[in-house]
Amino acid sequence: MKKLIKGGTIVTSADTYKADILVESGKIVAIANNLSDADAEVIYATGQYVLPGMIDEHTHVESPFGGTITAPWKTESVAAAVGGTTTIVDFALQTPGESLQAGVNTWKERAHGQSAIDYGFHIGVTDLHSETIREIPTLVEKGIPTLKLFMAYKGDLMIEDSTLYETLEAAKEVGALVMVHAENGSVIDLLQKKCLENGQTEPYYHAVSRPIEVETEATSRAIAIAEIVGAPLFIVHVSGEEPAERIREAKAKGLPIYAETCPHYLFLTTEELKKPNFEGAKYVCSPPLRDSKHHEALWNALQDGTLQAIGSDHCAFNFKGQKELGMGDFTKIPNGGNGIEHRLTLLYTYGVTKGRMTINQMVDLLATTPAKVMGLYPEKGTIAVGADADLVIFNPNERKTISHVTSYQGLDYDMFEGFDITGVVKDVFLRGKQIVKDSKYVGTLGDGNFQMRKPFGLCYKGVATVEKAKAEV
Ligand code: URP
Ligand code: ZN
Ligand code: ZN
Ligand code: ZN
Repeated sequence: MKKLIKGGTIVTSADTYKADILVESGKIVAIANNLSDADAEVIYATGQYVLPGMIDEHTHVESPFGGTITAPWKTESVAAAVGGTTTIVDFALQTPGESLQAGVNTWKERAHGQSAIDYGFHIGVTDLHSETIREIPTLVEKGIPTLKLFMAYKGDLMIEDSTLYETLEAAKEVGALVMVHAENGSVIDLLQKKCLENGQTEPYYHAVSRPIEVETEATSRAIAIAEIVGAPLFIVHVSGEEPAERIREAKAKGLPIYAETCPHYLFLTTEELKKPNFEGAKYVCSPPLRDSKHHEALWNALQDGTLQAIGSDHCAFNFKGQKELGMGDFTKIPNGGNGIEHRLTLLYTYGVTKGRMTINQMVDLLATTPAKVMGLYPEKGTIAVGADADLVIFNPNERKTISHVTSYQGLDYDMFEGFDITGVVKDVFLRGKQIVKDSKYVGTLGDGNFQMRKPFGLCYKGVATVEKAKAEV
């Protein structure tokens, strides 16, 4: 059935304007003032914003990690929907010894029929050999144009620098984008052992064993390797000032380096890890939370374009039975926190209403640029005729307080518990189907489809520049 969204204020990364939106067969077919259509269901958005469905390029749903498994599609995809996110790009992982395709297949199987929203996958490369490299072009053809490599998690996911080099080289040929978790895993491993030897077993030592220098160093190293190869690179979850500065310098040189941060690095600090009764474990994620001086540095990096996106890095483990695995040894606490549900409202409240960014910048960081980088644009990430009708009606005046009790995510705690929010997601449409009505989920699991993403996303715009610059020398 056709839908007509009337009276709202449309917000894109570029413009804010009042207009009606006509939706037919899952697509936006008209945007104009005073639209009417006798066959359409009319939804009034007067006094509210109409935003494109948000894109979260960094999630770990139903993922084996740290000796346990994260919360499942049936809860987390609904949490995303209620939070205004209509597409996630989730991290599938290669099992060492197996093919990349096998990893993707396993993740597809888990998501199939269980997702409230659209989804794609990155493939996390853990074991590179000649066949794996040959798989990269095939995966790109199958809609997986992004790969992730971990420079941390020694003895588990960590890769060699040569693997990063070879992956960048193969990816570059076919327009695939390499994403890195930039922390020096060998030094972390050593520092963790030292802490444990000294009887420092509490969650706080997670942060002590991962000082910002290990992130800064790995960020520089990854950039240097990408520069040698002449390939673009996307650095995930940048947590503070010095790594952001390395990215800023690389961009100033004209290198196609792209990066994201996450809500928890903007709003939470290392102090959380000191909470008594092992509750600090709720805030154990990697890179670790930093002290508050880094918040301002990250806001500045978002403001000046050093960072292009804010992904949630949603990697949800319960406190009971999961985070508790690390009692007596912080290295066994599964790493990760939540954010899939609150990303938009947190950024609207503490970014837009506090004057740290405009609402258009917010849409750019949470939807438009991620869609471009991830090869989902222009079908997703904006409001335009011909685009998918992934739309969010957002009431900027309504308030609420975040609590795990009222959240849709399947967690027994919330890293943002007690945060006051201004601005509430009221209605969400996924390719024209209403999946959230008056802040309640009304969709069906399985509404979400796998998205065939395109290679040569936004990052590749810079590659031509680098090669041209090199040729001109
Ligand atoms: O602590 C985190 N970030 N867990 C998720 C996996 C990763 O490193 O992104
Ligand atoms: Zn990571
Ligand atoms: Zn992650
Ligand atoms: Zn509870």
